[in-house]
Amino acid sequence: MIFGKRIRLTSPEREDIPLFVEWLNDPEVRQGLAVFLPMSNAKEEQWFEDMLKRPPETHPLTIEVREGTDWVKIGNLGFFDIHPRAHSAEVGIMIGNKNYWNKGYGTEAMELLLKHGFETLNLHRIMLHVYDFNPRAIRSYQKAGFVEEGRLRESVYKDGKFHDTIIMSVLRDEWDGRQQDEEQGFENAK
Ligand SMILES: CC(C)(COP(=O)(O)OP(=O)(O)OC[C@H]1O[C@@H](n2cnc3c(N)ncnc32)[C@H](O)[C@@H]1OP(=O)(O)O)[C@@H](O)C(=O)NCCC(=O)NCCS
Repeated sequence: MIFGKRIRLTSPEREDIPLFVEWLNDPEVRQGLAVFLPMSNAKEEQWFEDMLKRPPETHPLTIEVREGTDWVKIGNLGFFDIHPRAHSAEVGIMIGNKNYWNKGYGTEAMELLLKHGFETLNLHRIMLHVYDFNPRAIRSYQKAGFVEEGRLRESVYKDGKFHDTIIMSVLRDEWDGRQQDEEQGFENAK
């Protein structure tokens, strides 16, 4: 398991599939995702089996939050399209339990995944795609250190309209710089 300050990242289990389906069928959750048809347990089971055959570093991780003595599963995130020569990868994230939105968990989970990506998987560039009508996600990614690097203009069709997809990324040097700034701030506060 990968432990953060308030969360931990675990490996998803087969028994979690109905929970994932519930999240993916929530219209507000799926609004920002590339999901446009209702999800079924059967389709999610297929996705789970296919996932197990892919390289382990691309397996999703489940975000869990400490509640008293229990850990509550609130969402998933992970890497895909890992390019070993370019040391680059794309990330995706979903906090499926809306009660946990806007509490900093998405940002904390992404920061933890970035640390894992740079310091364990030896990635050099981590990028993502986000729709321009998803300001919560954009703000969260900015807080985690991502910067906008371009737009795919009118590349997505949702709710009867075309929208831009924003490409954001963070490079290893930028990540290292942020860690050093944080350590320096910590030292100065002593
Ligand atoms: C996107 C997501 C991962 C963000 O996680 P989160 O835990 O809700 O986000 P955080 O609390 O860490 O940060 C959200 C930030 O956006 C801000 N925000 C929320 N709604 C906003 C809005 N309408 N406009 C501008 N900023 C907004 C919050 O105030 C917070 O910023 P602050 O800390 O500076 O105040 C999560 O909401 C989610 O999974 N949504 C559904 C699926 C999805 O859209 N996934 C992303 C696909 S690219």
